[in-house]
Amino acid sequence: MSQLFRRKPISELLSEEGNPNALKRELGAGDLIMLAIGAVIGAGIFSSIGTAAAGEILPDGTVVRLGAGPALVFSFLLLGGVCGLAALCYAELASMIPQAGSAYAYSYATLGELVAWIIGWDLILEYAVGNIAVAIAWSGYFNSLLSGFGIELPGYLTHGYRTVLKSSDPQVQALMQSAPRVLGVPFLVNIPAFLIVVAITWLLMRGVRESVRANNIMVVVKLLVLGLFVAVGAAHVNPDNFTPFAPNGWPGIHQGAAIVFFAYIGFDAISTAAEETKNPQRNMPIGILGGLAICTVIYVIVGIVATGLVPYQQLKGADPLAQALQLAGLETAGWIVAAGAVVSLTAVLLVFQYGQPRIFYAMGRDGLLPAWSTKISGKARVPWVTTLLTGAIVATGSLFMDENEIYDLTNIGTLSAFAIVCIGVLALRITDPDRPRPFRVPFVWPVTLIGAGACIYVMSGLPAHAWERFGIWLAVGLAIYFLYGYRNSTLRNRPGAGELGAGD
Ligand code: ALA
Repeated sequence: MSQLFRRKPISELLSEEGNPNALKRELGAGDLIMLAIGAVIGAGIFSSIGTAAAGEILPDGTVVRLGAGPALVFSFLLLGGVCGLAALCYAELASMIPQAGSAYAYSYATLGELVAWIIGWDLILEYAVGNIAVAIAWSGYFNSLLSGFGIELPGYLTHGYRTVLKSSDPQVQALMQSAPRVLGVPFLVNIPAFLIVVAITWLLMRGVRESVRANNIMVVVKLLVLGLFVAVGAAHVNPDNFTPFAPNGWPGIHQGAAIVFFAYIGFDAISTAAEETKNPQRNMPIGILGGLAICTVIYVIVGIVATGLVPYQQLKGADPLAQALQLAGLETAGWIVAAGAVVSLTAVLLVFQYGQPRIFYAMGRDGLLPAWSTKISGKARVPWVTTLLTGAIVATGSLFMDENEIYDLTNIGTLSAFAIVCIGVLALRITDPDRPRPFRVPFVWPVTLIGAGACIYVMSGLPAHAWERFGIWLAVGLAIYFLYGYRNSTLRNRPGAGELGAGD
């Protein structure tokens, strides 16, 4: 039993630097804030905001979730608070243990190997699975852009099979009937989503400097486009749309928050760049907290304008912001926002496709995944095997899946990782109080406990099927751990090392 909770000594995590397989340090605080905005503002605000405001009803009339209505702005504020607490905890750990594995590495040092594995497994939901939803949202906006040019791809090449199964939209259902059949099953795939993931994977194989430069350009476009949405939209807000303000009361705000939480995911993703950051003790907290604060302000403003532009029920759909402008008669602005969304979502894809291979890499270095996952390419110094593996998983998933079900699964996995990180900060303060902490969480007891509790509260707003799938996901993860990681863990195979789990 004690073997399962062996902790990796922090001094050892920090000494990965001498490792010939170590990554190159080239990112500053500005790069990190840009990476955070690149990761955070994406499918959540451009797409899931519609379901969060309007709710979701299946073709047979089953209510999957209630919508927040214009009170969506309270969902955003609630999430800003919850993520703020988790961000403080991430900042303490990322500045103390600046290592590529993010929450996985922190929990290895604080709560032991089994919890670390569970977090690493959860982070696959956040990064790789989450990116499937982003790729699908990307495809939605890309297709509306193409239609603007008069190009219509056949529906069965732009919708995954599961989206069609779950949609109550009669047009989408009609697709099911018209699609070609393979062995009696309708053949429906999302080709644009697949191709964008392939392109991003190719870019990442070229190296981190190139990827960061591309991200910076995309972030500028993203901010300009949201600025345009607010500037043009604000002038056309109709105050009548704010009534009723909270059509489903607090349950609607809560369930809306549980899906639009997706919009906040990513401020933590930059911690995977810790091993490639200059002076991470100073720059990590600035990047994480600064990025989150900027995004929260933007979301609140965009939320108010979007729900003021059109009745909230009309925000339903794959491209709600562009749709809202068009419904308000602002065609050109809607078209520009759709183009900007395509660029913005590309940046999100980039950051998450960047983060996932580094988590696999960190897990491989610890022996919890096979040795091939630690292979670094010669010149570009990227973990190339895991970069390709992530590309293959995300590209395949985005061919077939449904966006909303992916949001749920990603949110539940990420929130559980956040909750464990909060507890990890407290655990490490108790077990290793004297270790230098370049950034300290203020009021550590209330912040960490309320932070963990608040994450669990947001999770409770997700539909039952999300919990079932999460349970299956964890069961599969545990089976893999006991069949592979438990036997091959580097730490466990070194008698004595880390046994007591003292900080070092
Ligand atoms: N927060 C990211 C997005 O909304 C994952 O796309």
